Amino acid sequence: MSDAVSSARKDYAKGALHKEDLPANPMLLLNQWVADAAEVDPEDYNAMCIATHSLSGGSNGRIVLLRALEDDCLRFFTNYESEKGKEILASPQVACIFFWKELERQLRVRGKAVPSSDAVSDAYFASRPRSSQIGAWASRQSRQGEEVKLTERIISYQAQFEGQDVIPRPPFWGGFEIYADEIEFWQGRPSRLHNRYLYTKQGPSWSLGRLDP
Ligand SMILES: Cc1cc2nc3c(=O)[nH]c(=O)nc-3n(C[C@H](O)[C@H](O)[C@H](O)COP(=O)(O)O)c2cc1C
Repeated sequence: MSDAVSSARKDYAKGALHKEDLPANPMLLLNQWVADAAEVDPEDYNAMCIATHSLSGGSNGRIVLLRALEDDCLRFFTNYESEKGKEILASPQVACIFFWKELERQLRVRGKAVPSSDAVSDAYFASRPRSSQIGAWASRQSRQGEEVKLTERIISYQAQFEGQDVIPRPPFWGGFEIYADEIEFWQGRPSRLHNRYLYTKQGPSWSLGRLDP
């Protein structure tokens, strides 16, 4: 296995980035890249790793699903009392990474995450399947516990909401919106000479620089 890992080789050649083609506002390109990824991988294109500061002073990361991309932020949903929820509320500076292998692209976003408004979280929660809504109530996300206890809570919430058309959103569940201050676009190139461009927020506008691969 270790031989296979060390000898795995691939040359990247599916695209290129040229500074003169890049927009002044990286959110335009970010939207375009997400749309491109949706075309080639409609199932997993919105999965991103989100890295946080752990409460013990280290770092932490896990995959979540991007659920909305606005002109100025990326949004995902989670349990605010989960490990990531507590970490973000304590230390809002986060990093997210997408890897779209079919396009040989990596996208890195660093910025500040803030909880979504109640209206935004309510609207998204209402759009979820009923079983996921009950799951959100029942799961004490990231805490240790027996599976049988989770099943008991699911049964109990099913009974509690029986006959009720609308299940309210749990107060401990909702969105986070990530407002980027740095966005890096990475396009794989032959011989590891990849194209990298970094946008950095400067007040209301963005500066753009090239990074060595
Ligand atoms: C493909 C994929 C998508 C996921 N999407 C979400 C999501 O949107 N929100 C979420 O809270 N967890 C999601 N998870 C689960 C998280 O990776 C993680 O296990 C969970 O949120 C607990 O993380 P935490 O203990 O760091 O808070 C997803 C996992 C995978 C593999």
